[in-house]
This record gives sequence, C-alpha cells and structure tokens, in this order.
Amino acid sequence: MGGKSIGIIGMGWVGSSVAISVLYSGIANELLLYDIKTGIAEGEAMDLSHGSSFYPTARVAATTVEEMMRTDAIVVAAGRGGKPGETRLQLLNENVLIAKNIAEKLRGYEGIIIVVSNPVDVLTYFIQKFSGLPTSRVIGTGTMLDTARLKEILGQSLLLDPRSIHAQVIGEHGDSEVVLWSSAMVGGMNLRNWKGWVREKELVISERVRTAAQEIIKRKGATNHAIGLVTATLIKWMLRGERRIINVSRVQEGAMGYMDVAISLPTIVGIDGATEVLIPNMSDEEHEKFHKSVEVIKKAIVSVKY
Ligand code: 2OP
Repeated sequence: MGGKSIGIIGMGWVGSSVAISVLYSGIANELLLYDIKTGIAEGEAMDLSHGSSFYPTARVAATTVEEMMRTDAIVVAAGRGGKPGETRLQLLNENVLIAKNIAEKLRGYEGIIIVVSNPVDVLTYFIQKFSGLPTSRVIGTGTMLDTARLKEILGQSLLLDPRSIHAQVIGEHGDSEVVLWSSAMVGGMNLRNWKGWVREKELVISERVRTAAQEIIKRKGATNHAIGLVTATLIKWMLRGERRIINVSRVQEGAMGYMDVAISLPTIVGIDGATEVLIPNMSDEEHEKFHKSVEVIKKAIVSVKY
C-alpha cells in the first residue's frame, strides 16, 4: 500500500477525524490539509506529524487548494455542521456557497472528489456541476454511514458482527432515507426469517438509524469519528481498485429512471470512482419511499439561491 496523495478541505471536527483515519489506514504517503483559517490547517498538520512514529510513513502538510490539484483524491469537509435539533437540509444555503467556491477551484482536477459536508446529496450535486468533473468522480459519502449504523444496531440486536449482516440504507443521507428491510440477509437467509424477528423491530431500528446523528450532536455537539472512518475506508477501497459495492451518493444518470439528482444507491466503487450504479430489490413500499426521498433532494436542489 501507500504511494497516494490525499487532500482534505475543511479541518473542523470531521476533517480532522478523516485525517487521522486516512493516516492510520496507510493508503496515503502524503496528506495535504486546507482550511480557510490557515492556522487551523497548520496546527492540525503539526499535531498529526508529531504522531508520525505511530502510523505508516506519510508526509502531512498544510497547503492551498491549488496545491492539491496533483492529489489522487480530495475530501470536501468544509462548511458548517448541524446544531442540536437542526436537520441536514437546514445547512443548505450556507454550505452551498462554500461548496461552489471550492468546486470552481477544482475544475480540471483529475482525481476523485469525496463530498462529506452536509447536506451531502445536495452538495455532491452542486460540486459535480460547478467542478464540471464526470459524475463518477464526485462521490458523496451518502448512506454508507447510515448503512454502517444499521449494521451495528442489527449486530447488537442479533449478537452478530456487523460485517455478517447484509442490509442497506439507500436514498437521502437524512430524514427521508430508506432501510431496505425486504432484502436484508443474514447467512444467506432473509432477515425476516431470523428466529424471534418481528416487524416492530424494523420501525424502532429504522428510527434509531435515522436519528443517530441528532442523538450524538445533542450530546457532544457534532459527529466525527464514524464519518472519519467511513471516508478513509471509502478512499482506501477506491484507490486500491477493490471494486466494492458501497452505498454512496452520486449524480444519477438514469438509474431507476432518475437523472440530475445525487442520491445513494449501491454502487461499484473502484479506481475510476463510483462507476456502476446497481438497483437493489425493493418492495413497493420501499420503492415509494425511495421516490419520495428523490423528491426531497430535488426540491432542495431547486430551492438553492447562489
Ligand atoms: C452524520 O450522520 C452529521 O451527517 C453526519 O454523522
């Protein structure tokens, strides 16, 4: 492993957690950091460098966005995070301006942009439009995090490792997200056939996944570690060309008939980005919910003033 250069724009709670997770993953031999407050990026670079005896060899430095143009992947974690009680969509107008500014600087970039800032689907859409990069090379972390939360909660409930549970969340990374219960599998068996499984559990668990970030924000003011791990892992799998199927957001070009909206579906992710979007089995009810989720994001996109 190694040999890759990665940039992170925005060194708040999330950016700094992405940084440490990327370093620990060993995928990068160079990590470039940028924040509008130069001192923050410099301070993070110094702090992370002082730990260099304890992660695979990598150079960490504070730079400009322009200097990041030669990297393999850039993470956009800039913008305001949510306050207690605020939905991700309420961050929209403030964060879209920041995203526009960054995306315009990234025109002609040849690597992959990973969007983390919220509302991630809408920002993925605008960063793709304003940067002019191909849709496969602007990826929002989307419901990869919600899927991880779902598997963790299910794992606790079934006393299984989350990696042994095949269940997923699609749609908006936000209140309209959709858990695909009808196709959830454990050990080759439909989850609904698991001993003691009752449908009531689905309602409770879906709600816990949907409100997970709010519960954390209420307590500590932000979420950062899980999204840091999600982002670093996505970058690692992608830059190693692993062709994993992950639930990520990208501007859709006809998947399930949808165009011009960024939303999460299971997608093959590899060295060229998020290239092939897959259509999972869904019940009619799940299909209807997914359609509503598309509508929520589309409405947010047209509401933006820039
Ligand atoms: C999360 O779900 C806030 O979107 C972030 O943790």
